[in-house]
Amino acid sequence: MDKSTQITLLDELVNLHASKSPYLDERWEQIDCERYLSQERFTREQARIHRGLPQIVAHSSDLPEPGAFKTLNFGGVPLLLTRGEEGQARAFYNVCRHRGAELVPEESGCKHRFSCPYHAWTWDNAGKLIAVPHEKTGFPGLDRSTHGLHTVLCEEYAGWVWIDLSREANNIDIARYLGEMSGEIAAMSAGEHVVFDSTTMDIPANWKLLVEGGLEAYHFRVAHRNTIAPLFLDNLSSYQCFGRHTRSILPRSTLPELREQPQSNWRMGEHANVLYSLFPGSQFLVQEDHFVWIQGIALSPGKTRLKLSTMIPTKENTPERQAYWARNHELTLITLKEDFDLAEGIQRGLESGANTHLNFGRFEGALAAFNAFVDDAIA
Ligand code: FES
Ligand SMILES: [Fe+2]
Repeated sequence: MDKSTQITLLDELVNLHASKSPYLDERWEQIDCERYLSQERFTREQARIHRGLPQIVAHSSDLPEPGAFKTLNFGGVPLLLTRGEEGQARAFYNVCRHRGAELVPEESGCKHRFSCPYHAWTWDNAGKLIAVPHEKTGFPGLDRSTHGLHTVLCEEYAGWVWIDLSREANNIDIARYLGEMSGEIAAMSAGEHVVFDSTTMDIPANWKLLVEGGLEAYHFRVAHRNTIAPLFLDNLSSYQCFGRHTRSILPRSTLPELREQPQSNWRMGEHANVLYSLFPGSQFLVQEDHFVWIQGIALSPGKTRLKLSTMIPTKENTPERQAYWARNHELTLITLKEDFDLAEGIQRGLESGANTHLNFGRFEGALAAFNAFVDDAIA
């Protein structure tokens, strides 16, 4: 984030704090509970959003060298990611073209060819069919060129591997997808970070509830009273939308000190956390010396797979720093678990039918904006 943007955003919050006002939208809103429960709606969200828009599937370091591969189940879609000899990242369906077996059962490794465990049809890591046992007798006239692995649109951008599962799209352009946010995402230099540790959990709550949990500071004082609440100001945060992506500024309790300092000394990282919510599935929580990647994969209306990864600068991945980063990862898990437990409770409450609608206050405007983006995407 450039210096003048940092100052503008901090100044706005310093003034709000001085006038004892939260950051307010024009009005508060009510939304229908069905949006978190309906299978019909979830099917549309899955088609138009989760399988219809670009998403991050891996960090570039998950494919560390030519020949590296990684498999994953991305919301029900079995994927094979590879890095070719020339360094290019590619994505395929991890599905054999003979009779549909799972082609690569291993989670990761280094291989230049993939041989199906059923009858040994074999592809190279660019997806080209290179061997078929008993081909001449069993499959006379088989056109190998039309039996490459089914590809998924893939681009490596800003240190991340992105895919687009949409059947209609025929190219992928992440810089364009991120629009005005692309510069700040690139400036995070994710490519110069490594995954220190990752924790994956399946949470019985709708994916939108888990995104919403990060978009307001109204709950900090109450829900995080035993963890991070003292580090932050009560009910103060701002947000800016870039297309469907959101940047949230979460000021820490040191923010008021800035009034005593010349603006030229103000630095966002010292006085606020920034949360980038990339629509739909990834959030980056930027802290002073590292960031957390929160990836949500919607599994059903009431279930989401969440992966929390502590991303640290590559040069800080030293033996002396291991304990420090491990403590950070642990604190992130404990704090976010407080949010996830609340989301689970909300989902149970929604399923009880007690409420017909939920209320987003004027200082929870980012939640209303996010839900409007979801509606727009499935319209
Ligand atoms: S199903 Fe893969 S080779 Fe037969
Ligand atoms: Fe929270």
